[in-house]
Amino acid sequence: MSRLDSFIRRLTAQRDILNAIIDLVEGVKGPVLEFGLGNGRTYDHLREHFPDRRIIAFDWEIRSYSASTPQAENMVTGNIRDTGQAFLGINAALAHADIGTGHDEIDAVTLTWLPQLMAGVLTHHGIAVSGLPLEHPELLPLPLPGGIKEGRYFLYRRT
Ligand SMILES: C[S@@+](CC[C@H](N)C(=O)[O-])C[C@H]1O[C@@H](n2cnc3c(N)ncnc32)[C@H](O)[C@@H]1O
Repeated sequence: MSRLDSFIRRLTAQRDILNAIIDLVEGVKGPVLEFGLGNGRTYDHLREHFPDRRIIAFDWEIRSYSASTPQAENMVTGNIRDTGQAFLGINAALAHADIGTGHDEIDAVTLTWLPQLMAGVLTHHGIAVSGLPLEHPELLPLPLPGGIKEGRYFLYRRT
């Protein structure tokens, strides 16, 4: 499969999962955390679907389109590994992490801290959506929406 096809399928999986979990998230109180704002496309999608939620976005620095940039109080810059620690216990209803790089050695380092962070920011029954697999005893895999191949994108519910 070409890298273009792979990219499109990954983003399709991301969007389809985020669309599929709207009702699940509606039943859970708490903010939404977006780890890896990028240019803000996914943030914009989350904002469209969760207009009444506080959405806090994280990235090394702000590189998003101005129309897809959160207010300063909802934008956290720096290494998520470090900045995320202040949000442990925030009881988020949804945490989405799109911070994989496709480089195994870099992603392996991210996976030394990301699962604990995702579990730690979520409330009971909060939803984790991730481009990288999250192995954590409090994150239980949920079935993926139809048409998404296992391993393309990942979906969990916190115990
Ligand atoms: C694939 S992009 C996210 C794209 C985003 N979903 C969008 O709609 O534009 C990944 C983003 O995560 C950020 N990122 C990756 N690892 C990070 C880290 N450890 N700390 C802060 N930001 C990180 C990168 O700077 C990049 O902007």
